[in-house]
Parts: sequence; C-alpha cells; structure tokens
Amino acid sequence: MKVLGVSGSPIKDSNTDRALKIALAATGVKTEFIKLSDYTIQPCNACLECRKTNNCVLKDDGNLLMNKTYKADALIIAGFTPYSSIDSRSKIFMERLYPLHHRHALMSGKPGAAIVTCVMQQGHEGMASACENGISAIQNYMLAESMSFIGGISILGNVPCLICDKKEQCSVSALKMLFGKDATPENVKINSVEDDTETVAALEKLGGDIVDAYYQ
Ligand SMILES: Cc1cc2nc3c(=O)[nH]c(=O)nc-3n(C[C@H](O)[C@H](O)[C@H](O)COP(=O)(O)O)c2cc1C
Repeated sequence: MKVLGVSGSPIKDSNTDRALKIALAATGVKTEFIKLSDYTIQPCNACLECRKTNNCVLKDDGNLLMNKTYKADALIIAGFTPYSSIDSRSKIFMERLYPLHHRHALMSGKPGAAIVTCVMQQGHEGMASACENGISAIQNYMLAESMSFIGGISILGNVPCLICDKKEQCSVSALKMLFGKDATPENVKINSVEDDTETVAALEKLGGDIVDAYYQ
C-alpha cells in the first residue's frame, strides 16, 4: 500500500508540511510527500477534453501529479486557509484531478483525509471557521470522487502579521484582531504542531485509520 501526502503550503517546513509528515510516518506503509509549490500547475479550464483520454491537455505538471495520485492507494491533502478558504494550490491540485473522474471513477473507494492549518478558530458571525471551510473543500472533492473520507484535522498555525514591520500602523492587523490591542510579535506565542500533543496523537491516529480503511 502507498499513501500520497500533498501539501499546499508554500512556506518552507511549515506546520502544514510537518503535520502531514507526522500522519504519513504513522501509516507504517510506503508514502510520498509532495509540496505543490515545487510544481507548476494551472487551474482547470473546464474544457472537458479529459473525458476522452483521462489526461489533461494543459502542458504543465498537472498530469504528473494526477498520475501519482492515481497510482497511490490513499490520499491525504494538507492545506492552509488564506482568507478562510482552502489555499489556491490545494484547490488547483484537486481541480486537476478531474481526469480521474472519467472512465470510470478512478479514485472511487480509496481512503482520503484532510489536514488544514488555520489561525481563526472561530468563523465570523454565522459563518464556518477557516479550518472547517478548508476541510469541507477537501472533503467535498473526496466525496464527489466517491472516495472514503476518513476525517479532517485542524492545525493551529501562525498569523502572517507576526513578521510584518508595519504592524503598529496597521488597521487590519490580524495580530491585534486575534490577541487584542497590546499584542506584539514578542508576546504572542508561535504555534508549532509538535508542541500540541493532542493534535500529534490525532494525526498519528489518522495515519493508522487511513491504512485500516484500505485493508477493510
Ligand atoms: C495571505 C494570507 C491570508 C490569510 N488569511 C487567513 C484567514 O483568513 N484565516 C486564517 O485562519 N488564517 C489565515 N492566514 C493564516 C494562515 O492560516 C497561516 O499562515 C497558516 O496557519 C500558516 O500555516 P503554515 O505554518 O503551515 O504555513 C492567512 C495567511 C496568508 C498568507
């Protein structure tokens, strides 16, 4: 069995990457980690040419990633949540798996899971949280392909404003919005997935569950 793990985070050795690697290591089977920012993929043009050939006509790395996904027995997608939606690389990756939809449901029955990093733990009034939105986006892809969705895990990430040198003048600082007017990069804790033992345990369980689901 082989589990493919795909990270949409462009940040080097990000929480998203490391969370995904924890889950992959816990599978105990063959795995491959892919960082989408190392590849070039354009969004789906909705031309539907892939209906005829199970291949995409776009000349980029989309078909290579699609074939790796086809050859894998299970898939974990790990993303983060700019503007409380799934990041664009993860979204484009899912769109470009559309060739596997045709002749005939080539991802059907494969176990799949989601890992999503966010900082907004609550949604705006009446709205889902950033991590819920991210997990739903991945879950919707997997359900549409008749995969077996094993679960989604939220990871607490870090506000990008922590590294901004204009934070004092900023009227839309997420640092102040989340942690109050006195928040500074010095007094806000940096979150590392490894420090959260419950989340690490949940990631390890996810790795085990995805293998169990394959052999069931
Ligand atoms: C352009 C941009 C916009 C963001 N907007 C949100 C947001 O609306 N909600 C949220 O929870 N996090 C937001 N984030 C924060 C990301 O979720 C955070 O950077 C992520 O936790 C980093 O994950 P990483 O450590 O895996 O790279 C944003 C980040 C970027 C770069």
